Amino acid sequence: MKMTQINAQTSDETKFINNLINQMTLDEKISMIHANSKFTSAGVERLNIPEWKLSDGPHGVREEINRDDWDPAGLDNDFATYLPVGTALAATWNPDLALEFGQVLGREARGRGKDVILGPGINIHRTPLCGRNFEYMSEDPLLISKLAVPYIQGVQSQDVAACVKHFALNNQEYERFRVNVEVDERTLREIYLPGFEAAFIEGKSLTVMSAYNKFRGDWCSENEYLLTDILKNEWGFEGVVISDWDGTHSTVKAAKAGLDLEMGTNKSSYNDYYFADALKEAVENGEVAEEIINDKVRRILTVMYRTNVFNKDRSTGEFVSDRNFESARKIAEEAVVLLKNENSILPLNKTQIKSIAVIGENADRKHAYGGGSSAIKAKYEITPLEGLKNKLGGSVNINYAQGYKSTTLFNWSDGRIDTGKSDADYVKRLRDEAVETAKNSDYVIMFMGLNHDFDMESVDRTEMTLPYEQDALIKGILEVNKNVIVVLISGQPVEMNEWINNTPAVIQGWYSGSEAGNVFADILFGDVNPSGKLPFTFPKKLEDTPAFKFGDIPGDGLEVEYKEGVFVGYRYYDSFNVEPLFPFGHGLSYTEFEISDLKLSNDKLQIDEEIVLEVNVKNTGKSAGKEVVQLYINDVESSVERPNKELKGFEKVSLAPGESKKVEFRINTKQLSFYDIETRKFKAEHGKFTALIGTSSKDIKQKKEFILTD
Ligand code: GLC
Repeated sequence: MKMTQINAQTSDETKFINNLINQMTLDEKISMIHANSKFTSAGVERLNIPEWKLSDGPHGVREEINRDDWDPAGLDNDFATYLPVGTALAATWNPDLALEFGQVLGREARGRGKDVILGPGINIHRTPLCGRNFEYMSEDPLLISKLAVPYIQGVQSQDVAACVKHFALNNQEYERFRVNVEVDERTLREIYLPGFEAAFIEGKSLTVMSAYNKFRGDWCSENEYLLTDILKNEWGFEGVVISDWDGTHSTVKAAKAGLDLEMGTNKSSYNDYYFADALKEAVENGEVAEEIINDKVRRILTVMYRTNVFNKDRSTGEFVSDRNFESARKIAEEAVVLLKNENSILPLNKTQIKSIAVIGENADRKHAYGGGSSAIKAKYEITPLEGLKNKLGGSVNINYAQGYKSTTLFNWSDGRIDTGKSDADYVKRLRDEAVETAKNSDYVIMFMGLNHDFDMESVDRTEMTLPYEQDALIKGILEVNKNVIVVLISGQPVEMNEWINNTPAVIQGWYSGSEAGNVFADILFGDVNPSGKLPFTFPKKLEDTPAFKFGDIPGDGLEVEYKEGVFVGYRYYDSFNVEPLFPFGHGLSYTEFEISDLKLSNDKLQIDEEIVLEVNVKNTGKSAGKEVVQLYINDVESSVERPNKELKGFEKVSLAPGESKKVEFRINTKQLSFYDIETRKFKAEHGKFTALIGTSSKDIKQKKEFILTD
């Protein structure tokens, strides 16, 4: 009987696994806990334990590469559905879509014969410069938790293990292989661990990837505090800790600290791995007890058992299926964020338009096959230009001009990007051509932003401005046409100060997967009403960011201290009254919503009780739409410095014109708590709190005070 068995160990499972381990030789055990190819670890054929197959990545299954080097295998049957990237999924604020995302990713991975998919990536967006922010989700641990949990459950429902990563404090790419991160315990517990804790406690993620960096002086792959004290003892994690590739640094220390599977170490032979001959020797000379090896093997066999590896009716999955692409489209539709829409210039009405100028390299650029290890060999990727052509057919003239050229040079030596100034004449010619095109069109849609030369693993940006002189291009266009819509394709914020005030509409489009172009067209022409909300703040300028103000971005590459503490993202901007360009949780709609009648079941909350908050949401506009009602809590009087609001709940509601719904939140002591470093526990202090209901962290519509009392 098929068991989708993700939860606690059963006696059958224990018996089955112990029986296998009792038959295994030390050599066989050792062979299972280190790589035997780039993305596999050995099985034990005589005991019918198959080789374990792992694959990237968080938003699609990576193409096949050769067993022993990084070159693509060049197959023609390893295409993937390109799902919207992590930030796009987060921008949906929709846990149901996160579940669907996970189901698709799990189906695709299973269909490609994989046992583990190396995602989700959930590291906090500490700064807007981290090259991998696009793969991750948010600056807020609750939003991450509410999306990562269903994502993991979705993946694992398809008999594939998820691998939440990178554990932990991997919040910059600059010198990621050597930087040591120092952060105080309260900030660790309130900001950087909760997403991982939810991934294991609620999501039951069966594997986790240790990060490259050091934390408090120890490599994460041999950090006993993280891997054993917190992960395995405090949280009761029963799965497998997998090293990041070439992220293992020792034999005995790593084995004892809690690493279970060594992958990707840069050695000429797999026998030279830390967990290969050297570990066998350490067991034989008594430095490492064989039970420690047994525990690692037990964990791998547990994950195999719970993903039905030993079960003949294990899911067979499916990849690049129609329904997988349909899901990708649904997710993209709810990811796109309408940042600005002055005088409702959007949605465009194609019956009233004769011509549109489509400007920008990103209108005609595909992004799937970029970004580093999360790159996807997509079965297809609809570009914005293709999407507009698909929608408009011949009814509207589409005049395309590239406008700018990405002349990015990447200096692998020091990990810096050089947007190599291409020759001035060429830049000018592209811009003049674009301006001319815009002058002669009714509307201008500009697809601008970044690409995977910037949103890229192993690289951090050094500034937030748009590259390739895009600001000048946008200003040039605005001089000849007022009907300009800027669509930003990027995984993280960019500065817009030079043109935002004169631009009537701005959309954040993200890297939105195989169906991106069709979705952008649907939203621009009103067939889809945008409902995305920013999962992180768009600051006005880099100097406004907390890590910049308090800390050292990115540090000297050896040491970085998170001096801003818990004041990450909106927790900083709202507490220190720094006006962002667009706040956390912001996103407009083509309709309007009214939030009213906030009620509390009681204005006194007893410790370990809960009060119910109810609020009414009404669609007061003319089209159906979705709104995300956000609950923030403010601790009016506390003995420690706390952010002036923290997200403690949200609900996305879909409403027809004129329709109303009651949204309910339950407030309990845990949501009011902070981490007390004296008692090393979360605690809530008696006294006054304020419940705030908003449609962004700045756009608070209703609030009410209550008292926490004994
Ligand atoms: C990379 C990444 C990790 C990825 C792994 C395998 O360096 O840090 O996220 O899954 O190696 O490609």
